[in-house]
Amino acid sequence: MHDDTLIQNSVTGNPVDANPILRPEWWQNLAPSLSLSNSPYAAVKPLVMDAGSESAIRQLILQEGYVQGSVGQWKLPLTDMVNVVVKLKGAGLMPVFALAYEEFWLLAHQLGNVVNTLLGGEYYMLPDFWMWHVDPQKDESGWKPHRDKSYGSLLADGMPKSVTLWIPLTAATTLNGCMYVVPADRDPTYGTPNDKDWRFEYQDVRALPAVPGDFFVWNQAVLHWGSHASPRGGAARVSIAFEFQRKDIPPMNSPLIQAGTIPNFAQRMNLIGKQVLQYKHMYPLSPELAAIANAMAIAPNTTPFLHMNNSHK
Ligand SMILES: [Fe+2]
Repeated sequence: MHDDTLIQNSVTGNPVDANPILRPEWWQNLAPSLSLSNSPYAAVKPLVMDAGSESAIRQLILQEGYVQGSVGQWKLPLTDMVNVVVKLKGAGLMPVFALAYEEFWLLAHQLGNVVNTLLGGEYYMLPDFWMWHVDPQKDESGWKPHRDKSYGSLLADGMPKSVTLWIPLTAATTLNGCMYVVPADRDPTYGTPNDKDWRFEYQDVRALPAVPGDFFVWNQAVLHWGSHASPRGGAARVSIAFEFQRKDIPPMNSPLIQAGTIPNFAQRMNLIGKQVLQYKHMYPLSPELAAIANAMAIAPNTTPFLHMNNSHK
């Protein structure tokens, strides 16, 4: 299935050495308990909300720009998922490489109804995702204050054209780098063309500690950041973020991913390579890592995203 002669370096045109990372076997050996296809967890049903909850979260994302919810307990092997993130980081790779495994995609899958409610119906997953392992013992922090997009990501009525879903896999505390947000209704320049000019009061900053099972969704105009961990922070903050857009607006990035589908292994390799390259302004790449990302981003991909089979029915 994998013909290494087809994997060309996008810069030199030369075949890349048979890099084991492009082979499923490498991933299976790294985490034998996690799935590369047909995850046994795929039958887990998405969270179902009643009409009252749907109305409440629509009102919250309009008023405060974000919502916090809980699925209770993820019916996924969180310990194994966190462990593979640690292994990847130890191997010199980034946490985002963990999206090679289906279990990480099933986090988003289980919250499809939440995204659907906030985006007014049908939606696409954007090819924009990332993972963090913020280690208090290594003086690490999350991303600095930013708006994921800006006021242009809001409709005229204030509802979002696109949202970010952020999920902690370990407890996120004020000591290990939890998220902070400036609620939309406390942010004077939120939703305006002046939203690069930050004029909020320090007292209006809100910490968002969370435990596994919790999730956040924010619109892409709200100001937020991951904090700097304290050496007293204990265990690392491990988290993942996915982005989504409404279906009735032009693509914000490509390829768009059909809601309710999970990219296959080859597609996941493509997408991970794309993430590493598109966020290299955040994490400068070594030549080795750049070569790996380039090879992944151009690896053969047989199925168009918008027509792939729903592999997790
Ligand atoms: Fe963000």
